[in-house]
Formats: sequence, structure tokens, C-alpha cells
Amino acid sequence: MPSTTEKLAIFGGHPAVPPGLMKNWPPIDTDDEQMVLSSLRGGKLACGPNVKAFGEEWAAWNGNRHAIVTNSGTAALHMCVVACGVGAGDHVLVTAYSWSSSATCIIHHNALPVFVDIDFDTINIDVDKIEAAITPRTKAIVVVHLHGLAVNMDKVTAIARKHDLKVIEDCCQAHGARFNGRKVGTLGDCAAFSFNQNKCLCTGEGGAFVTDDDEMQARAAQLWSFGETRTPHEDRDYHAYALGWMYRCNDMTAALGRSQLRKFDGYFSIIRENGAVLNERLAGVPGLILPTEPDGHLHNWYNYTSRIDMDAVGWNGDPVRMRDAVMKALQAEGVPVGTWQRFILPAMTVFRAKNAYGAGCPWSCPNAGPGVEYNPAAYPVAQKHSDTHFGMTVPLRAPNRTDVAEKVADGFLKVFGAVDQIDPDKVLG
Ligand SMILES: Cc1ncc(COP(=O)(O)O)c(C=O)c1O
Repeated sequence: MPSTTEKLAIFGGHPAVPPGLMKNWPPIDTDDEQMVLSSLRGGKLACGPNVKAFGEEWAAWNGNRHAIVTNSGTAALHMCVVACGVGAGDHVLVTAYSWSSSATCIIHHNALPVFVDIDFDTINIDVDKIEAAITPRTKAIVVVHLHGLAVNMDKVTAIARKHDLKVIEDCCQAHGARFNGRKVGTLGDCAAFSFNQNKCLCTGEGGAFVTDDDEMQARAAQLWSFGETRTPHEDRDYHAYALGWMYRCNDMTAALGRSQLRKFDGYFSIIRENGAVLNERLAGVPGLILPTEPDGHLHNWYNYTSRIDMDAVGWNGDPVRMRDAVMKALQAEGVPVGTWQRFILPAMTVFRAKNAYGAGCPWSCPNAGPGVEYNPAAYPVAQKHSDTHFGMTVPLRAPNRTDVAEKVADGFLKVFGAVDQIDPDKVLG
């Protein structure tokens, strides 16, 4: 690694990434504007033609038989839980490190999340720990392809078959990622995508449920729109046949989704090029643990997440303080790093306090049975990851190209080349 004699920006030096070089995500062009404008002028802002078309186009692009576009990835996850027939008191396995709604979607249908620790290298659920977490009440596994790296689905599918479990893929961060050549969202029983601001396909807010199974599609569609059995594109009878929510996407959002989808493959190539620059320039930097892309996986570099090797940087104090100090130094260089989840899921109050619906529900539900407890100490790998990680999204995204990725790499090299100068007590106060 080139050692740097340049003064770190946090100590008054020049930032590695010149101000103004990096552009925001997502790029919006005249096609996007035209699509949204024509939706606005089309007079059908709810249940309009773009909603149906976006669903069909998303299904075709991802290789699914069905897709239903939603107002969020969380809604799509809840639809997955219901599509899989999970109900009150059932147990659903899920990684201990993810977005809260990877697990709260299970509570949304009165079922109970059971957490599984992560594998440090991939940051995904530790597939070798799944079987030990299965109980007689387990009905499904939520696998989260975290930060755009697919879970090893060969192993998950084998376990699911053996124990007769459904597999829900949380693809909210993983658009376009592949496992053994197959796109995520085609590897389990059903899947959820998010199209929120930071996602690789952005409509502001939004999401999609996908499946190849007709019955799952019907159950999800019912939940999506008031418990009705006819979609808003059919002749509705406005009858609630089951408990439903209102998870529909509006027409303008779907219009933007359609125009963004046409550009997705181009954006994906840019992310891959930028990721390749970072991987190459930062390989072997002492103290820096880079994200991995194991054989058979195609990462979408949704969130380029690194960890600090505290031993290698000679730090034996609180890892969070050292991580925060290094992040501050990187930010001063113009590298927009941040932490993702500072809390592992089993440490979140909703689980620890079991305060979802009041009166201990759903854990106190007569169907639930005893035994689901949340002890954060039981997930040491997730905790270690959470305490030492930082990530970034924007530098890898269009319209930023490899010139930006090179400058970002310069910033990393500068900071890690002078990491011995970073004293958390001085930097953080
Ligand atoms: C892994 C994961 N799951 C679920 C979600 C929820 O998606 P949404 O915000 O669209 O509800 C997110 C959103 O950030 C996520 O990152």
C-alpha cells in the first residue's frame, strides 16, 4: 500500500475527493420526467395503467411469473409471509443483522421471529447455524441477500426441503444480484424488493412482491388490496374476504419505476465497474476488511461495506469509537461513509420488550408456545460486524464513474495509511 505523507483532511489537509465531484443518486433524465408527467396527465393516479405495466415488466426482467408492485419493500415482505401461509404463533427464522422490517414483517402476521447469527465474511445469515434454530413450529426462513450479496441458496434450499419450510427472499437490497447465474427473487418460494431512495432501482418509495406460484400470488394480492379477491384492474366487488391492508403503489411512482427499469442494466454495469476499481485498489490494505464476492456469486455492490480489523490497527479499546473516528476521517476526505445498522435485530426494543401489539402479543398468543427469547449476546458475530463496519452507496452509483471510484480509493488509502494518527479521544472528543 502506498504510504501517504499527505496531511489527512481531518487535520487540515486537502480532501482526496474534490468537493462537487460526486453526484447524487438517482440520475433523473427527460424520459423519467416524461413518464411521470404523462401519468399525472393520464387522470388515473390510483390503480392506473403504469401499476399493472410496471408489475409485468418487473416480473419479466427478473424472470418471475408474477409480480405485484407495492408502496414499500416492507409491504412486499408482509405479503411474502402471508403468501407462505405463515400464521399466528408460527416461528420464522431470520438473520440477526438486517433492516428491522426483515423481522417485523413476521410479527405483522402474528408469527414470531427466531434469529440466527451471521457469517462474518458474507454478512449474511450463517447457513450452517440455521438447522439448530428450527423448532417444531418453524414454517419459513427469511433470507436477506444483504448489501447485494446473495445467500448461499443451495444450502438454504436443502435445509428447507428437509424440514418442509418455505423460503422468503428479502431482495430489498439485491436487485440484479445472482447466485450460480440465477437472479435473486427466483431462488426461493417468493421474494420482496424495495424501490426506496437508496435502492439500485429507485422510485422514491415502493416495492414489489414476486413469485412463480399461483396460490401464493393470489394470497399476496388479497393482502395487498383490502382483502379483496379481485384486483383493482378487474371488476371489483369491494368485499373483504380476508384481513387485508392497503399496500398498493400509485401510478406516478410506477411510471418512474418503468423508466428507471429501462436504464437498470446500464446502471448495474456502472456499479460493477466502480466496485471493481475499489476492490482492486483497496485489496490488502492493512486494517481494512473488504466486502467479499465468493465464487458463484454476482454482487450488486448495493452497499460497499467494509470492516476495520481492530487488531491490525492496534486498537484494543471500544471498537465503535475507533470505527467512528476512522469514519470521520474518511468523511473529511469527501468519502461518504456511514454506518448501516448500529443495532443488531435481537437488541432492538420491539423484540427485547416484546411490545409489538401490547399485552405481550403475539408472543403471548395461545398458539405461540413458550421459548422464543431475545438475548443479543447470543449473536456475537452480528455484534462484531455491527461494531466495526461502515459502508457507502453513492460513490458506486451512476452517474458517478470510475474517476470518482478512484478518488474514493485515494481517500481510503490516505486514511488507512495514517490510521495510527487517528486517536478516537481527540477526533471524537
Ligand atoms: C434488507 C431490507 N429489507 C427490507 C427493507 C424495507 O424496504 P422499504 O423501506 O421499502 O419498506 C429494507 C429497506 O431499507 C432493507 O434494506
